Amino acid sequence: MRAAWLCASALALACVLAGCDRTQRDMLRQPRHGPEAASPLFADGRATRPPPPDAVPHAIGTYASASGGRTGTAPVAAREADEARQFLPDRPPRALLVRGQERYAIYCMPCHSSTGDGDGPVVERGFPRPPTLHSDALRRAADRHLYEVISHGRGLMYPMADRIEPADRWAIVAFVRALQLSRHAPIDRLPADLRQAVSAAPATRAPAPGAWRPAVEAPSQ
Ligand code: HEC
Repeated sequence: MRAAWLCASALALACVLAGCDRTQRDMLRQPRHGPEAASPLFADGRATRPPPPDAVPHAIGTYASASGGRTGTAPVAAREADEARQFLPDRPPRALLVRGQERYAIYCMPCHSSTGDGDGPVVERGFPRPPTLHSDALRRAADRHLYEVISHGRGLMYPMADRIEPADRWAIVAFVRALQLSRHAPIDRLPADLRQAVSAAPATRAPAPGAWRPAVEAPSQ
């Protein structure tokens, strides 16, 4: 008799729990509208609500791709390639380098140091040391790679698309190129007088990290 009761209550409990499960599932599978579906609920007959006025699209503009995007990366890549053409001419003008140096000093120097060796003041206080910007790999890396690292970050380095405008990102890329060239300039690319002076000078050792300052002057304010 007792066993029969037990059996019956177990059965009843199973039914109740199954009901629970059912209810939960039904809550998960609620009717909803797909994108651009029709709906009689709104006056314009569309389920999709228009964005509020002055809403900023995620995939275009200064803040593009500062966080995970839903519109795909192709339009962003195309726009960035356009900007590269616009802002990074074959021979960067001096103003671009000066701007790049100034922005580098603000946004990159704290970790990467003024020379790009990776021992900036933030690192001296315990932040993990970034790689040197003078490595073969980073000298060979495309301009676009450097631009992407600034925009989207890398490992411990946070993305900076939300605080450095595209034009300034390219200016920084140009300056990083100048930094790299400062240690690896082929002698035949120097002007004739400098080339002679360098050839005549006795061989010197590379300056100690931090001891060297880039040749581009700081902008006069
Ligand atoms: C808070 C410190 C910090 C700041 C600020 C910072 N970086 Fe970095 N950066 C790092 C660290 C750390 C890494 C190594 C990331 C990793 O691989 O985990 C790195 C890596 C890089 C790399 C190498 C990427 C690769 O392909 O391996 C480049 C290039 C770079 N940073 C450029 C910049 C530039 C340009 C700026 C300024 C706009 C900047 N960084 C600002 C910390 C910083």
